[in-house]
Amino acid sequence: MRAITPLNITPEPLYLNRRAFMRTFGAGLAVAAGAPATLLGAPSEPTDLPTSFKDITHYNNFYEFSSNKQAVARMVSGFETTPWQLEVTGRVAKPALFDVEELITRFQPEERVYRLRCVEGWSMVIPWHGFPLARILEAVQPTPEARYLKFITVHRPRQMPGQKNGWYHWPYVEGLRLDEALNDLAILATGLYAKKLLAQNGAPVRLVVPWKYGFKSIKSIVRIELVKSRPTSLWMRAAPHEYGFYANVNPKVPHPRWSQASERRIGEFRRRRTLMYNGYEEQVAHLYAGMDLKANY
Ligand code: MTE
Repeated sequence: MRAITPLNITPEPLYLNRRAFMRTFGAGLAVAAGAPATLLGAPSEPTDLPTSFKDITHYNNFYEFSSNKQAVARMVSGFETTPWQLEVTGRVAKPALFDVEELITRFQPEERVYRLRCVEGWSMVIPWHGFPLARILEAVQPTPEARYLKFITVHRPRQMPGQKNGWYHWPYVEGLRLDEALNDLAILATGLYAKKLLAQNGAPVRLVVPWKYGFKSIKSIVRIELVKSRPTSLWMRAAPHEYGFYANVNPKVPHPRWSQASERRIGEFRRRRTLMYNGYEEQVAHLYAGMDLKANY
């Protein structure tokens, strides 16, 4: 991944608190009544305001289009995201082919405000709309051999110019252990800021695993396979010494090119301390009990 490029100065965050957020998006949140709207997880020392819609949608990593974060939003114009189907297959009793609209009706996305921490040392706070990945797993019923999930992005080089270059092994692939995927924090997102997901953020459906570095949160997914052995992700294949399977946010384990001790929240100037598991330690630390976190980076 490339080094951080300087950002344009970000306007004041639009959403100062929950009340202002509700005033603005009350109608759009109708389906999310009762859902958690405040940021989940341990608070950081400085405040955690939602990042502006402008920054979330104009500072993107989506290598299928460009490695220039500020160019992605304009490069996606020819990318068709409707209609879209998501296949869930492999070691499951009931393989399924879902239409995205059907997913939304059936699994009722709710608001989840999460931190997103990129391995490059920047972060955001994003009000996603999504539903727990566990809901889909309940529907397809993993068999006892299913131990991992392999996620695959659409492969469409004619619409995604980055897929024509040979630097990476396309399509983008990511993976989770089954118990990680069943954790309530892991969601499939179909929207943000109460709007449908834009192409640059991984429309129409993408993974969000907030305690892991952002590259695990794979975009524009067409297939999820339940498999027996650990999948090799695009990044593990491209640079195995830099990117491991787990990729849990850990301020004590540096990446070969970037310290992970601190981060810059997009829209702010000063760096802040990075939190263990990105602030979700209470919810996820048990998944890694007894594991050597340096070896399992
Ligand atoms: N998914 C695909 N298919 N292709 C990508 O290049 N980039 C990842 C992740 N998912 C990426 C992807 C990285 S490095 C990050 S930090 C996040 O998406 C960025 O998500 P955002 O642009 O919505 O903030």
